[in-house]
Amino acid sequence: MSETSLPFHMKFEPGKLRKEEWERSIKDPEGYWDEKARALDWFKTWDKVLDESNKPFYKWFVGGVLNASYNCLDRHIKTDKKNKVAYIWEGEDGQVKTITYYQLYREVNKLAKVLQDLGVRRGDRIALYLPMIPELPIAMLAAARLGAPHVVVFSGFSAEALADRINNAGAKILVTADGSLRRGKVIELKKIADAALEKSPSVEKVLVVKYAGNNISMKEGRDLFYSDAINGVPANTYVKPEPTNSSDPLFLLYTSGTTGKPKGVEHGTGGYLVWVYWTLKWAFDVNDTDIWWCTADIGWITGHSYVVYAPLMLGLTSFMYDGAPDAPQPDRWWDMVERHGVTIIYTSPTAIRMFMKFGDDWVLRHDVSTLRALGTVGEPINPEAWLWYYRTLGKEKLPIIDTWWQTETGGFMISPTLGIELVPLKPGSATFPLPGILSEVLDDNGDPAPDGQRGYLVIKTPWPGMLQTLWQDPERYKTVYFSRFEGTYYTSDYAIRDPDGYIWFLGRADEVLKVAGHRIGTVEIESALVSHPSIAEAAVIGKADEIKGDVPVAFVVLRGNYMPSDALKAEVSKHIRNTVGPIAVPADIMFVNKLPKTRSGKIMRRLLKAVVGGASLGDISTLEDGASVEEVKKALEEMGGRIG
Ligand code: WT7
Repeated sequence: MSETSLPFHMKFEPGKLRKEEWERSIKDPEGYWDEKARALDWFKTWDKVLDESNKPFYKWFVGGVLNASYNCLDRHIKTDKKNKVAYIWEGEDGQVKTITYYQLYREVNKLAKVLQDLGVRRGDRIALYLPMIPELPIAMLAAARLGAPHVVVFSGFSAEALADRINNAGAKILVTADGSLRRGKVIELKKIADAALEKSPSVEKVLVVKYAGNNISMKEGRDLFYSDAINGVPANTYVKPEPTNSSDPLFLLYTSGTTGKPKGVEHGTGGYLVWVYWTLKWAFDVNDTDIWWCTADIGWITGHSYVVYAPLMLGLTSFMYDGAPDAPQPDRWWDMVERHGVTIIYTSPTAIRMFMKFGDDWVLRHDVSTLRALGTVGEPINPEAWLWYYRTLGKEKLPIIDTWWQTETGGFMISPTLGIELVPLKPGSATFPLPGILSEVLDDNGDPAPDGQRGYLVIKTPWPGMLQTLWQDPERYKTVYFSRFEGTYYTSDYAIRDPDGYIWFLGRADEVLKVAGHRIGTVEIESALVSHPSIAEAAVIGKADEIKGDVPVAFVVLRGNYMPSDALKAEVSKHIRNTVGPIAVPADIMFVNKLPKTRSGKIMRRLLKAVVGGASLGDISTLEDGASVEEVKKALEEMGGRIG
């Protein structure tokens, strides 16, 4: 961990303005947010900024009425932003489309009408399973226009994962596509959706976008082509935006936790929108001349908040790309930055490390001088990757905005702020909490950890962007987030505060992995493993990976009549791909006769991790059967030193 701050070209008095803004927000949160929330268009303003009467179910802007689609579209078409480009979209094959605010407004209205005609009413859930194409934000905004919470499922998820999410949400409609495209190959989304729908009786109608051009089967009475449906409504259709309450759910987004079942994170409307609006402004100081590129897929929270809601509310032009980052070659991104004049790129440490490995030349052959800031998110960024980003893309001039946050937090929480004041940066630290965020690093007992000592990051007071609950599971919301340290929001992240007050993140403190920045629970992968007929028991741990941060490694005990083989390994990998998705596929699968367990029967993941990482085994006195440690080691040796 390096603590040298780099010489920046900006001159400022370090942190004074930022500190003042933060103090104001903490001293008088209601006054502060009352003022900030007015940046949005409300049909009716709130009676109370924050209702804390039913902790930890906080309610923001109580009595306030607004509509998300109105704030993203209608408000702009009355201004000179009407004909401004909202999205520049590029496909992997080089096809480029642009869509202005007015065009987006018209498309959203038409789709809202289609959905309304299909019976969608306020409160109904709409599942979206789409590639990174303009129809995805259009469908989100159409749902929001009707007050119908959307449930976006990342298009890399399997049929089973899609069905689980649709069923938990009780979605009535699914919007999907014939297929998605990667490196010229078609991934048959509709086919996967069909398999999911066999297990999802709540879905009444399916809209299918023609994108990949592959042949698909359409189910009579259930499936409709998106284009046919849109062409069936007048081109100038107007659907009145539903006057939703501030705390009506805007969307559900499923994310992994420590159990086998993903959690349906529920975000409200008013608080969430206010939070993403201000955080994007603060962190990146975005303005009318920017070409903003958040590289995240909309299937994750980063895409919801910073490809869709915040940039649209702020009237920005965003660039959106659907394709592999190295197609046709490793300079694809820099070629696009140059051609479209991207001014801010916001991406992940995994992507940065991958480009670093491709070599500087791929960047240097392009004019990327339009860039003015570089962002990162998703996992801790190692100083080496930070410095590469700073030197190669930033030419030692551009600030690196490392934003720490979570699906649950709605938007950035800890980050440098170009829009308030840039504090001196330290490579690898996300710097300080944003206004409105009172964070602390606690030790195991819940006492503040001394500076420089690792502890758990908590957030001590509510903020507008926080999740409202877990869908239909308020008890789980309380236990997951507010019971580890009674009454305080628990992030499940390890962190250190250094003597200057800078926060450094050290990864998850629970059984959750960040694989290439994507969140996946080890228990989720274990459940999928034991659902294969050959597997009796399984344990999954994370192994450090040079590019992806973590990769899952599985230890499996086979049922009596199965023998270990490469063919079985391949079959198990395929099974995980089909039941969870490609991100969950273990980098290695080890066949063992036993798993190391404590006397009380708990799998000793710590020990498996130590063995894989080559660390010392530490205290194994609670181990039920010492022999199994040897066995794990032996299995590893048999792998031919591929691990550890
Ligand atoms: C987890 C949340 C929030 C957008 C994408 C991920 C890790 C996220 C950082 C960062 C260190 C980070 C944390 C967090 N994380 N950003 N800048 N530095 N760690 O959302 O999938 O809900 O994952 O990602 O471990 O808890 P998510």
